[in-house]
Amino acid sequence: MSSTRTLIRGGLVITAADEIHADVLIDDGRIAALAAHGSAVSEAWTAERTIDATNKYVIPGGVDAHTHMELPFGGTHASDTFETGTRAAAWGGTTTIVDFAVQSVGHGLREGLDAWYAKADGNCAIDYGFHMILSDVNESSLKEMDLLVEEGITSFKLFMAYPGVFYSDDGQILRAMQRSATNGGLIMMHAENGIAIDVLVEQALAEGRTDPRYHGEVRKVLLEAEATHRAIQLARVAGAPLYVVHVSAQEAVAELAAARDKGLNVFGETCPQYLFLSTDNLAEPDFEGAKYVCSTPLRPKEHQAALWRGLRTNDLQVVSTDHCPFCFTGQKDLGRSDFSKIPNGLPGVENRMDLLHQAVVDGHLTRRRWIEVACATPARMFGLYPKKGTIAPGADADVVIYDPHAEQTLSVETHHMDVDYSAYEGKRITGQVQTVLSRGEVVIGQREFTGRAGHGQYTPRGTCQYVN
Ligand code: URP
Ligand code: ZN
Ligand code: ZN
Ligand code: ZN
Repeated sequence: MSSTRTLIRGGLVITAADEIHADVLIDDGRIAALAAHGSAVSEAWTAERTIDATNKYVIPGGVDAHTHMELPFGGTHASDTFETGTRAAAWGGTTTIVDFAVQSVGHGLREGLDAWYAKADGNCAIDYGFHMILSDVNESSLKEMDLLVEEGITSFKLFMAYPGVFYSDDGQILRAMQRSATNGGLIMMHAENGIAIDVLVEQALAEGRTDPRYHGEVRKVLLEAEATHRAIQLARVAGAPLYVVHVSAQEAVAELAAARDKGLNVFGETCPQYLFLSTDNLAEPDFEGAKYVCSTPLRPKEHQAALWRGLRTNDLQVVSTDHCPFCFTGQKDLGRSDFSKIPNGLPGVENRMDLLHQAVVDGHLTRRRWIEVACATPARMFGLYPKKGTIAPGADADVVIYDPHAEQTLSVETHHMDVDYSAYEGKRITGQVQTVLSRGEVVIGQREFTGRAGHGQYTPRGTCQYVN
């Protein structure tokens, strides 16, 4: 594949490591060179296309390491397909997703993975990789883990929640962790005590507490913290690194911090919904709270400060979206008289880079930390660096020209995700994606979609580059 030789001129290049006023030369789909503004005058710096980035940021394309396009869940499936979801991701400045292939109970990993390859193949606007959800840990799935690691599926999600669906018991978790300790895979944990939660769900429903806000009440902070603690101890016993997904509670951050203070390879991810939304949203009247039902659940606002702090102190390393959209009409609806039947998940793949830029504007993160948690560390964590997640010679030319001064209002009226609401309706954001390149091709040009389904390539991954 040869793409147009491109020069991005006049911008501020921001990576996790540096902020430099530099021009960026792209050749053959990769970053060829960087040069201080005005210093690159040689013949080598001629290009067929020049993009003016004066007064703009030039940042690596976002790496969203947690999405669920088309996920079958709760009797329906996530409303974004790989086509619509990756297009929306591009609009939001994300150029790589790592989605979750699913092993069904009673079936092998291979079968699940092949189904996900087929769903994505030829449909994606940006590059993509896969994690594997383990729903049935047994001798044969443990053996298959080794093969998947060799094939570039180097991370495996386990669930301490959702008994009867994705749930693994402690013995299964320990076995999978032991396997990952030898094959180099990274265990990703959904840390909530699902057995206890199901008791509380049953009791709430028996007492007529059916409204969406009870979803947040039964999925208690203590049951996230307990599961996080247990997952860490099991990982210690196995001698395996651990990555805890969608951390939402202050007490869970404290468990991660304590483990990291001991020097353990324990990592945490949070998501924009936990940083910007709260139980106030779950309590919205007229069933509107259903729009905010996800697991782990939204927490009282007080938890947000601990999450921001965790991101600053590196007790949390990654912000992913857990993009798993369900329409309000026809999908969230399934739980109108029973909150436990509301499909779990929020849309957000298009909003992450903007919301985190707003966090820069609000003083929660530095610009470099924005790029670190949204691009560089997810790429390192999941074996994609430096191909993805940075702007450096040899890296894929996945580049976003970001206008830090543009003003926008997030809304279902203007977003591109295939879902009938925005979780951030009316939220004002300073900053907006202007142009996006994926491997040197302009997929968003001056806020027009110029990409295509099928441009995005499957990207096999190496093992975690973040362990120490
Ligand atoms: O509510 C959520 N998070 N839905 C997606 C599945 C998961 O647990 O990540
Ligand atoms: Zn989960
Ligand atoms: Zn998820
Ligand atoms: Zn192409």
